[in-house]
Amino acid sequence: MYVDVQASELDWRGVYWLCIGFINPRPIALVATVASDGRHNLAPFSFYNMVSANPPVVMICPAPRRDGSPKDTLRNIRETGQFVVATVTEAIGEAMAACGADLPYGESEFEFSGLTPAPARQVRPPLVRESPVNIECNLRQTVSFGTQPGAGTAVFGDILAVHVADWLLDAQGLVDPHKLRTLGRLGENWYCRVVEPFELHVPKVDRQ
Ligand SMILES: Cc1cc2nc3c(=O)[nH]c(=O)nc-3n(C[C@H](O)[C@H](O)[C@H](O)COP(=O)(O)O)c2cc1C
Repeated sequence: MYVDVQASELDWRGVYWLCIGFINPRPIALVATVASDGRHNLAPFSFYNMVSANPPVVMICPAPRRDGSPKDTLRNIRETGQFVVATVTEAIGEAMAACGADLPYGESEFEFSGLTPAPARQVRPPLVRESPVNIECNLRQTVSFGTQPGAGTAVFGDILAVHVADWLLDAQGLVDPHKLRTLGRLGENWYCRVVEPFELHVPKVDRQ
């Protein structure tokens, strides 16, 4: 199969479904935000990654709703400038999926999913107690890819603080991938587990 995206009969949804089937596994950010009145919101985003090391910056990418309105996560981040990303592990997979439900604005996915908010140190949005890794973030910048259906908005956030459960750490103080057991997002409703991590080493090449 060859697809010329400009010329193809696939609409943007077809291209999206095709691409998420191979741009994977994607990490899942479970993003906690607060509305300006303080109410909690929690939603999963697999368009998520760390995009700069110095400064440390993460990105999530909320698409608009079908009616064109922004998702609650984006609305809250724009209003408050803050968010928390909880890492999605196998143990909280079902609860994470529950947080993908489109609840009315202001209704908390914490209650709906059974996850527990815990106070953060530097921002108002809460940590997810059941996740062993949470990061506190400050909005740096948003980049919108348009106003048409499916147009994402990339939200870049500076990492202010990282909370890691001690039981995850190896002798060097780094996260042991065997213990973390993140979930990855594949295409459609498929996910994967990290069950057999292994190392590869890039050869050193002398460049004179
Ligand atoms: C695993 C998973 C990953 C998702 N990733 C995204 C994403 O990257 N961007 C997006 O706009 N929606 C994504 N969604 C859908 C949102 O989570 C869903 O629209 C949610 O209701 C948004 O909540 P909010 O309005 O409270 O922000 C994902 C859903 C799931 C279950």
